[in-house]
Amino acid sequence: MMLSWTEDLALGNDDIDCDHRHAVEAMMRIAAADDPALPALFGAFVTHMREHFERENALMRATGFPARACHEGEHVRVLSLLDSIAADIAAGRLESARDFGRHGGPAWFIDHRNTMDFVTVDYARRQSGR
Ligand SMILES: [Fe+2]
Ligand SMILES: [Fe+2]
Repeated sequence: MMLSWTEDLALGNDDIDCDHRHAVEAMMRIAAADDPALPALFGAFVTHMREHFERENALMRATGFPARACHEGEHVRVLSLLDSIAADIAAGRLESARDFGRHGGPAWFIDHRNTMDFVTVDYARRQSGR
C-alpha cells in the first residue's frame, strides 16, 4: 500500500498533522529502504512514534477526552508491536519491518487516523470552542 502525505489526511490540528506527515513519510522510507538502511530508519520511526503518541496522550489529558483509555491503550499496543519488530531487526530478520512499512503500517495508520485520532482532535476543537 503506497501512501503519501496529502492535505486530505489533515485533521486541522497543526501539531498532530505535522506528526502524521512525519509518520507517513517515515513509513514510506522504510518501505523503500534497502537492507543496510532499514534498521536505522525503523529505529528513528519507533522514536518518533513514542513522541507522537505522547503528544496525543497529552492532548487527551488536557481536554479530558472521554475515550482516552481506549486511544492510549491502542498506542501501547502499537508500541509493543514496534518493539517486537525492532527485536526481529536486532536478530537479523528484516522482513517484518519491511512488511510493516509496506502493508501493516500504512493500513493501521489510515484506520487509526480515521477513528481515534479524528475523534480526539474533533473533541479538542469543540472543548476549545474553535
Ligand atoms: Fe496519530
Ligand atoms: Fe493516536
